[in-house]
Amino acid sequence: MKPGLGTRDWGLGKAKATTQKQKKTFREIVVPSPQSPVPASSSPKSPTQPNLTHQAPATMPQLDIKHLQALDAAHHLHPFNDNAALAKKGTRILTHGEGVYVWDADGNKLLDAFAGLWCVNIGYGRKELGEAASRQMTQLAYYNSFFQCTTEPTIRLAAKLAELTPGDLNHVFFANSGSEANDTILRMVRHFWAVQGHPQRNIVIGRHNGYHGSTVAGASLGGMKGMHAQGGLPIPDIHHIEPPFWFADGGDLAPEAYGLVAAQRLEAKILELGPERVAAFIGEPIMGAIGVYIPPMSYWPEIERICRKYDVLLIADEVICGFGRTGDWFAAQYFGFQPDIMTLAKGITSGYIPLGAVMFNDRVSKVLMEQGGELAHGYTYSGHPVCTAVALENIRILEDENIVGTCKTDTGPYLAQRLHELGDHPLVGEVRVAGMVGALELVPDKTQRRFFSERGKVGTLCRDMALGNGLILRATNDSMLFSPPLIITRAQIDELIEKTRRSLDQTLAAIGTAR
Ligand SMILES: Cc1ncc(COP(=O)(O)O)c(C=O)c1O
Repeated sequence: MKPGLGTRDWGLGKAKATTQKQKKTFREIVVPSPQSPVPASSSPKSPTQPNLTHQAPATMPQLDIKHLQALDAAHHLHPFNDNAALAKKGTRILTHGEGVYVWDADGNKLLDAFAGLWCVNIGYGRKELGEAASRQMTQLAYYNSFFQCTTEPTIRLAAKLAELTPGDLNHVFFANSGSEANDTILRMVRHFWAVQGHPQRNIVIGRHNGYHGSTVAGASLGGMKGMHAQGGLPIPDIHHIEPPFWFADGGDLAPEAYGLVAAQRLEAKILELGPERVAAFIGEPIMGAIGVYIPPMSYWPEIERICRKYDVLLIADEVICGFGRTGDWFAAQYFGFQPDIMTLAKGITSGYIPLGAVMFNDRVSKVLMEQGGELAHGYTYSGHPVCTAVALENIRILEDENIVGTCKTDTGPYLAQRLHELGDHPLVGEVRVAGMVGALELVPDKTQRRFFSERGKVGTLCRDMALGNGLILRATNDSMLFSPPLIITRAQIDELIEKTRRSLDQTLAAIGTAR
């Protein structure tokens, strides 16, 4: 299966890496002088930029786009991008956001059906979060949680997370991102077993095509082959099993029966490695980056049963799913299982400021506290007070405005209903949706569960069509992914569906009989 690399751009950096990388210095790039900037309104659009009529708000500054693009090309390496191709095309520069919409420097208004990168749960432009940050910065911009110290918002957030997360996940360690949080987890679970006299119990099992971040441990726990190839990963004692993806792998089994079979691969792997060697299992409740694989409801309870049977710690990576994405606060509640450890990031601040967190249950915490000795782990910004103050305000808004509840009982079911209507389209082979996250699987023949022979081409085309229609979707392979801000209204869901159908029609017309 195609790795997730190269799937995170905006349709601007998709050209293959066969283009010769040219090392350019700043001097070699033609940069318009600041004295004679190219007015944004007169800058020619690149072919992939949508030609929309929406106007930018009057207050939006006019940027010298070409100049900024040249500086970007000269100095900025973008994550998950073919940077040589991107440098030639020019980056899209975003300037403004309001609710579910963002504007780019060309003045295009785009419905962001991907909430940035699965994270802007409360939508763009909430001044309260800026005010919370400003208040905290003015009062105490920084203090750490080393040296037997901490700050008030960090304590309050720890208590709030203990209250919100299910079961006895009562203890938190703060990081700055999902990747860092997963790095923390890898060290903690190994330490947890080592201090109890089981240093050999250090294997963590993840899933092929899983995504747990881009640091050395995060990328190792994840199962993206393309990522493993860069930097000699995975690190030792990390193993992977096949993910649950009924569309590709279910054969003649009904989804629920398949869910059990897919989960039992974990048991087979534990027995193959030896239960005394397996420290933990990690999984995204819904596998996001690879294409929103939503497992059958039977999958996670069976995973939990197996973990309990062999005393393997169960880690739910809720970086995407946490804070309401499924219509429940956490996907563990949606699927009905209880993790021992949970990874949090993204929706914890709705992406307004970086923050990651690890939740531990009472058992793990007790061992770490009573037997673990001094914790030889931490980040300068663990529990940064500005980030934790913003997170508290974000959670207050989610609660006070009943955003998660509305998503569960109203807008989530409405999105599901409307996405399922797209199931009648000739290109759509499967509709997957849970709460406010979903996917359309584009296929060459909807009577069969079969992929396009060249995976990713049609998905990329459809994504670019959507962008041309003022809609931000993400494509992984040929899965069109949806993860809008949770505050999206029914009328905006109608707009999302109308633009998606138009994009599907245009894609179908463009590929014609070449299917
Ligand atoms: C499930 C999951 N875990 C971890 C991460 C990594 O988070 P970050 O990019 O904040 O490091 C991501 C990012 O998309 C993710 O989807």
